[in-house]
Amino acid sequence: MTFDFDKNIDRSRTASVKWGSIPAVFGVEDALPMWVADMDFEAPPAVVRAMKERVEHGVFGYTLQTDSYREAVTQWMKNRHQWSIKPEWIQFCPGVVPALSLIVETFTDPGDKIIIQTPVYPPFYSVVKDHGRELVHNPLKVTEQGDYIMDFDDLERSLSGGGIKLLILCSPHNPVGRVWTRDELSRVAALCEQYDVLVASDEIHADLLFQTGSHTPFASLSEDAANRSFVCTAPSKTFNIAGLNTANIIIPNEERRQRFEKTLRKYALGSITPLGAAATEAAYREGEAWLDELLAYIRRNMEYIQSYLEQHIPEIKVNLPEATYLLFIDFRGLGMTHEELTRFLVQQAKIGMNSGIMFGTEAEGFMRMNVACTYATAQEAMSRLHAAVDQWRKEQ
Ligand SMILES: Cc1ncc(COP(=O)(O)O)c(C=O)c1O
Repeated sequence: MTFDFDKNIDRSRTASVKWGSIPAVFGVEDALPMWVADMDFEAPPAVVRAMKERVEHGVFGYTLQTDSYREAVTQWMKNRHQWSIKPEWIQFCPGVVPALSLIVETFTDPGDKIIIQTPVYPPFYSVVKDHGRELVHNPLKVTEQGDYIMDFDDLERSLSGGGIKLLILCSPHNPVGRVWTRDELSRVAALCEQYDVLVASDEIHADLLFQTGSHTPFASLSEDAANRSFVCTAPSKTFNIAGLNTANIIIPNEERRQRFEKTLRKYALGSITPLGAAATEAAYREGEAWLDELLAYIRRNMEYIQSYLEQHIPEIKVNLPEATYLLFIDFRGLGMTHEELTRFLVQQAKIGMNSGIMFGTEAEGFMRMNVACTYATAQEAMSRLHAAVDQWRKEQ
């Protein structure tokens, strides 16, 4: 390996949400932080170098999205996702969640219905409810093997009921880790065309794939899909620069792009930061080799955890995701209520994870574990869990 993902980095004094909020959120000091979706690794060396150079300059005034920046984003989409976009389709936004919120505000009206596919990333609920729009759930189905698939019959039933303006798609899906196939996405696109529904496609996890080349950007499906979609992309998850608040929203339809931009201006949100711009451009131009090694490292963590559970704690089960650095772990074999499980994991195992019900009531008994950590941390998590389960077994 060229890059050192084993390096143990102390994040405790950097005001990190993931590390610093453990006592406030979990009520204990010493839980291992395996929750908030950022990584414990340094960003790629090229990114750190570009930021240092920018810092050396010493002047940090208002910053443009240059042609070179747009070209870096465009090239990345082409190389990594075989997707040809025009540089002018790229709209800056200080985050994907802010973009989802602005899309809801701009393209729907109070009382309109918006579909989400649950269990899903919690802000998908709040951006709808906070704007006074009505949430419609299209729960994912689970196969006998524990794989998640879309429920197209339910989706069509909801769409044909009328009043739905927007579908917020999570592609790849957090927390279930699916990379939707071209066929699945084409069926979604066909239904959205039939019932004239817009699509906000959150593709923030699209680069974190374990089979390269198989993510299909929603807008690349067809001309109609391009016209009705907002593809929300960002270098933040991919290169561990989420704190730089830089996202690129790709909106092929000119009229919709202008309306989105008008809302950005309304809230004075359209300005990129000098460090966000430098980091993003360097990441997209020079970060690919780092990303490929990162994915191999994370996959090893995942495979280790899966086989550890199989061997030592068969009550707890996990299917490996197709994308994301998040494991969606099934703890139902322990037979605990949600409250018991939460208490057990925090107080006995001392691991801080996101509980399944944050993502939807259907995910009770599941926990989301962030494994973008050192292999040593993954081992520590397994030994803590094993010891806690051993103790619990004795008490049964
Ligand atoms: C699906 C999804 N969308 C958006 C975000 C956050 O995006 P941002 O920090 O750009 O608002 C996350 C972070 O975990 C996520 O998982």
